[in-house]
Amino acid sequence: MICLKNIVKTYNKGKSNAYEALHGISMEIKDGEMTAVIGTSGAGKSTLLHILACIDGYDSGEYTIDGEEVGRISEKQMAQVRNEKIGMVMQDFALVDGFTALDNVLIPLDFAGGKQRLRKKERREKALKMLDMVGMKEFAGKPVNNLSGGQKQRVAIARAIANDPSIILADEPTGALDSATTEEIMKVFRDLNEQGRTIVIVTHDPAVAEQCGRVIRIEDGRIVE
Ligand SMILES: Nc1ncnc2c1ncn2[C@@H]1O[C@H](COP(=O)(O)OP(=O)(O)OP(=O)(O)O)[C@@H](O)[C@H]1O
Ligand SMILES: [Mg+2]
Repeated sequence: MICLKNIVKTYNKGKSNAYEALHGISMEIKDGEMTAVIGTSGAGKSTLLHILACIDGYDSGEYTIDGEEVGRISEKQMAQVRNEKIGMVMQDFALVDGFTALDNVLIPLDFAGGKQRLRKKERREKALKMLDMVGMKEFAGKPVNNLSGGQKQRVAIARAIANDPSIILADEPTGALDSATTEEIMKVFRDLNEQGRTIVIVTHDPAVAEQCGRVIRIEDGRIVE
């Protein structure tokens, strides 16, 4: 369960160019929900997603995942939460050019510490399994810069799910795709949701929002719907 209470986020806090992007966001997302976040450009969608992903902090309010307050834990613990519970799909894929699809999916597996860390051979098998899940196994050895937009998006999803996160966050995952490819990518998200994972998708596309069980609209840093 994800719970936000009155989250306020200011960029450049204390400086002359300070800008309050979120004015007090409260919401709850239950385990296994598939939620779309919509709203006009600049409304604060990515800001919200970055806070949910523990990539960025907030000024005030309370953010808890499974009852644990994120704002009260150390950087190191936050990195651990991010690695264990959260998979993030960035809008621009954020894949490493020149690396193959397989090597990109191996990154979070190589990075995982502690109990989660697998042996080298197991990491490779796991990465291939993830690529298989998104229909990209046959492209495992191909450098990602030679892949199409939809194929890159799939690799980005495979990388996001490599450590079996219970929460998957995606920022405009279909923003650069045609409608047929969008439908294929949405099928991947629906399948992941059916496996019981919690999914939050930021989107401009009504066809994407329609496929989510719940839609949250943000305008000017506030939830309006
Ligand atoms: N690093 C930053 N420094 C200062 N202001 C920022 C920063 N990032 C975002 N903002 C501002 O915060 C507001 C919300 O930005 P955000 O990126 O969350 O919008 P968004 O809803 O994701 O928009 P889009 O649909 O265009 O991606 C915008 O007015 C933006 O200019
Ligand atoms: Mg954005």
